[in-house]
Amino acid sequence: MLAGKRILLIIGGGIAAYKSLDLIRRLRERGAEVRPVLTHAAEEFVTPLSAAALAGAKAYRALFDLTDEAEMGHIQLSRAADLVVVAPATADFMAKMAGGHADDLASTLLMATDKRVLIAPAMNVRMWTHPATQRNLATLQGDGILTVGPNDGDMACGEYGPGRMAEPLEIVAAIEAALADGPLKGRHIVVTSGPTHEPIDPVRYIANRSSGAQGSAIAAALAGLGANVTFITGPASVPPPPGVHVIRVETAAQMLAAVTVALPAEAAIFAAAVADWRVANAAGSKMKKDGSGRAPALEFAENPDILATVSKLTKGRPRLVVGFAAETDDVLTNATAKRARKGCDWIVANDVSPGTGIMGGTENAVTLLSEAGAETWPRLPKDEVARRLAARIAEALA
Ligand code: C5P
Repeated sequence: MLAGKRILLIIGGGIAAYKSLDLIRRLRERGAEVRPVLTHAAEEFVTPLSAAALAGAKAYRALFDLTDEAEMGHIQLSRAADLVVVAPATADFMAKMAGGHADDLASTLLMATDKRVLIAPAMNVRMWTHPATQRNLATLQGDGILTVGPNDGDMACGEYGPGRMAEPLEIVAAIEAALADGPLKGRHIVVTSGPTHEPIDPVRYIANRSSGAQGSAIAAALAGLGANVTFITGPASVPPPPGVHVIRVETAAQMLAAVTVALPAEAAIFAAAVADWRVANAAGSKMKKDGSGRAPALEFAENPDILATVSKLTKGRPRLVVGFAAETDDVLTNATAKRARKGCDWIVANDVSPGTGIMGGTENAVTLLSEAGAETWPRLPKDEVARRLAARIAEALA
């Protein structure tokens, strides 16, 4: 699947750099051409010689050297690739990228490239969770940079938690997804997924049982057909798929704002289980029992309806807007009314009554409602439902 694809692999300076040597092998096994670039710090962990030997190609080094510029300029190097991958992307390197620095070869290549960029962050847990890194991550994701990992696990520094670089085969999967060829190649599609969390106070919130599994599967299936997916997810229990542009939000209001920024798109699939209500009188500090036995009174305000808002856009409405109807009674009647009320093109309706095991489960039984009528699909694994839906979306956008 990667035959003939050209990957510019920037190796950053972290202990996970040793895994990037394995990544080079895995990519070459799949037919990809790899051009390694080592940052100055990377050379403390792996040598240009090993990277070059595994890649079967010259390994470029951090500092400009005139021979390189004579052979191939940095602009050309950054554009001769199909995808630029940064693995490991250290905290420092992410900060440089977010700040737009261009003070060595690796950072200059990233500023000069016109190709998509995928980063595999790797760092100590504290460095990963540090507000500065999270701020830089949000900036990079906002710039359209794809991410894979980091994973939770034991770290070389002796701590445990998020910060471990994704495994080479996970990075390969993300690269394959980012380079996928198919009927949706280059088409921008927005997918919302997961529950929303609506705060009651800084430590409590109102949520729902959505796992985000169906939304994740849809985003993966669309990316598999080549789409450029912006995946806007609430706090889901299922991780986002590789090879999509992930934007994490918590509340319905944040989700609407993220969708608005992500448009224009050719299609928008609203698989998120958005809370209909938020707490209007959410407290700024933790609510405490006052000993009187009186429970606090929560006041609710209606959340924006993201699906209806986008469906009714007069300017910049995606050509295809798809909503979901998770119902417990009269599924078809309610879903038909919902399609008309929200103004979307399709509704994917399903029965989420407790006995069905669908909410939070691995299977789904859906009916696709469109102008053409209702089409009931058999009960299928959620990723098969996603593949069928993605194929239908590809047909509709053809
Ligand atoms: O009205 P209901 O919540 O049942 O509608 C479900 C559909 O509407 C889903 O596609 C969901 O993603 C979308 N929705 C939304 N914003 C809301 C509520 C629901 O986008 N505030």
